[in-house]
Amino acid sequence: MKAGLSDVLMITGRNKRALEDHFDRAPDLERSLELKGDETRLDAVQHASGLGPIHYVRQGAPKGLGHAVLCAKQHVGNEPFAVLLGDDLIDESEELLSTMIDVQAKTGGSVIALIEVEPSQISAYGCADITTIAGEDYVQVNSLVEKPSVEEAPSNLAVIGRYVLHPAVFDVLEETGPGRGGEIQLTDALQTLAKGEGDGAGIYGVIFRGRRYDTGDKLSYLKAVITLASERAEFGEDLKTWMKEFLG
Ligand code: G1P
Repeated sequence: MKAGLSDVLMITGRNKRALEDHFDRAPDLERSLELKGDETRLDAVQHASGLGPIHYVRQGAPKGLGHAVLCAKQHVGNEPFAVLLGDDLIDESEELLSTMIDVQAKTGGSVIALIEVEPSQISAYGCADITTIAGEDYVQVNSLVEKPSVEEAPSNLAVIGRYVLHPAVFDVLEETGPGRGGEIQLTDALQTLAKGEGDGAGIYGVIFRGRRYDTGDKLSYLKAVITLASERAEFGEDLKTWMKEFLG
């Protein structure tokens, strides 16, 4: 929403109904807060449901990220769209997504976000071979490989969970067979578009140097909670004071 997007589709799966409940109205709770005159909590409860239209589609089987994106085909139609992986947490104050939207509009291709990682970490990510473009703050992506070994990796640039994609990716995904791990990989479809020609071909990368947390990793999840909580106006200072005491 902060980046100017106004329509959200969540691709969910079984046991993920808490997501739908979180973004739904909570009439009983709202009414009792209203009766108590507790405006602060009422605003907090209504914030999530007031963000805008949110739609849901369930990915019936865990067939991979590429398959999850394909589940959005009918909803998205023939326009560029953003994909945000929920376990990659990036604070809304970062400009990454709006920069990527601008690069997509300028290039007409698809845009990925990249971070530099230690070589030993690259096998946990998609990895990009890139060429810099003179005078531009984005790069050309020549090829992509999903979760390569250190030896196979063409660089130390890892794909993170933000994409702004041309709708041509849907036709490519329909033709993309299972890849690494037996799953339909978005990285494989993007590799096809990187090598392709014509409408919607071409992959570009924005190198992100801000803060990003992989909440699929337990330590990184804890760091995210502590960092973001320590920046909250209502208890950040108290939390930091307590942490100093706690650490002695
Ligand atoms: C997915 C993508 C991978 C990317 C990663 C970012 O992998 O397939 O290319 O680097 O997200 O978080 P996953 O983490 O779902 O295994």
